[in-house]
Amino acid sequence: ASYDAGEHDSFMHKEMLEQPAAAERILRGRLDERFGTAHLGGLNMDARETREIRRVKILGCGSAYYVGQMGASLIEDLARIPADAEAASEFRYRNPIIEHDTLYVAVSQSGETIDTLLAVQEIRRKGGRVIGLVNVVGSAVARECDGGIYLHAGPEVAVASTKALTNMFVGFALLALQLGRVRDLSIADGQRLIAGLTRLPGQIEEILAGEDALAEMATGLAGAESLFFVGRVRGFPVAREGAQKFKEISYRHAEAYQTSELKHGPLALISTEVPTVAIVPDDELTDRNIAALHEIAARRGPLVVVTHAGVDLGDLDVRRIDVPRNERELDPILLTIPLQVLAYHAALTLGHDIDKPRNLAKSVTVE
Ligand code: G6P
Repeated sequence: ASYDAGEHDSFMHKEMLEQPAAAERILRGRLDERFGTAHLGGLNMDARETREIRRVKILGCGSAYYVGQMGASLIEDLARIPADAEAASEFRYRNPIIEHDTLYVAVSQSGETIDTLLAVQEIRRKGGRVIGLVNVVGSAVARECDGGIYLHAGPEVAVASTKALTNMFVGFALLALQLGRVRDLSIADGQRLIAGLTRLPGQIEEILAGEDALAEMATGLAGAESLFFVGRVRGFPVAREGAQKFKEISYRHAEAYQTSELKHGPLALISTEVPTVAIVPDDELTDRNIAALHEIAARRGPLVVVTHAGVDLGDLDVRRIDVPRNERELDPILLTIPLQVLAYHAALTLGHDIDKPRNLAKSVTVE
C-alpha cells in the first residue's frame, strides 16, 4: 500500500497525531520494571564497558541537534556523566579530540544526513565509539555505528520532524536510564522514570486533544513578523526546537533565547509587535522565569506561556498552555508538543506548503 496522508491535510499533521503510538513503539520490550532499567541490546556494550564511559558527546543537525541537547540533560541528570550536544555540521571542522572513554551518539531520523555521517566517520577513523539514535533501519549512519537504538517512529515524510523527534527524546531517556543504572541511579529512581515513560504516550495524546485552542493562539502568532521563544536550562532546547519549527514552516523570524539572557540584549526588541513564547515549567526556576515574563509584559510584549497547571502567573496578561506533569526529567518533550501544533497552525493559516517548506529538504545528503 502506498503511504499517504489519508484524512489529514498534510503528513506533518498525520505524523504529529501518530506520536502517542510511535512513543509506545520505541518503549515496547525495552523497559525492565523489576530492576528499574532499560534493555538496549543494540548498544553492543556490556555493563563494564558502559561503566567506563566518562563523557557523552551527542551529534546531530537541525531538530536532531536540539533534541540532542535535551538528551544531554537527561544523561547528566540521571547518570551524572558530563554530556553535551554539538551540531554535527561543525564538529569535524575543529579537529575534535576523540577520547576512548567518551561515548559518541549520532542522532538522525533519516540516517543519511551527510554532516552527521561524516562526523561518525571522523570519530571512527580516530578509534572512538559511536552509537546511533536512528529511525531508518539500515541507513548509512546506522550501518557505520558500533551499535544503537532504533527509534521505531515509522516513516516520516514531512520536513518538520515530529514523531521521530519525540522518539529521539524517549531514546535518550532509555539510554540515560541504562547509563544511570550501572552507576548511582537507584532502582527506585529507575522505576520512577519507567513509570514516567509509560505515562508519556497518554499525556502526548492529551496535549494533541487541545489542538483547537492551540490553533487559535497560532493564528495570533502568525501575524507577527518576528517572535522570541525563550526557556532556561532544560527549557532552552525546547525553545530552540520551537523556534526552529516555527521558522521552518511559517517563514516568520523566530529566535530562541535563554530567558536569563533577555536582559543582556533582546529586551531592546520587545514591543507590542514582537510576541514571546515562554517555556515556564514547574521547577526550581519557575520564579525566575516569571520575573522575566514581567520584564516582557512591562514592554507590552504579547506572551504565550507553556507551563504546568498550578503555576501561578499572578496578574500577567498571557495566553496560557498547560501541559500535563511528568517527572521533571521528562518534561521537555511534553513542553515541545504544543510548539509543534503552534507552528503547524501558523503555517496553515498563512497558506504555506507545510510538508515541503521552501529551500529545505527532508534530509540533506550533500555537503
Ligand atoms: C534537515 C531538516 C531538519 C532535520 C535535519 C536532520 O535539515 O530540514 O528538519 O532536523 O535535516 O535530519 P536527520 O534525518 O539527520 O534527523
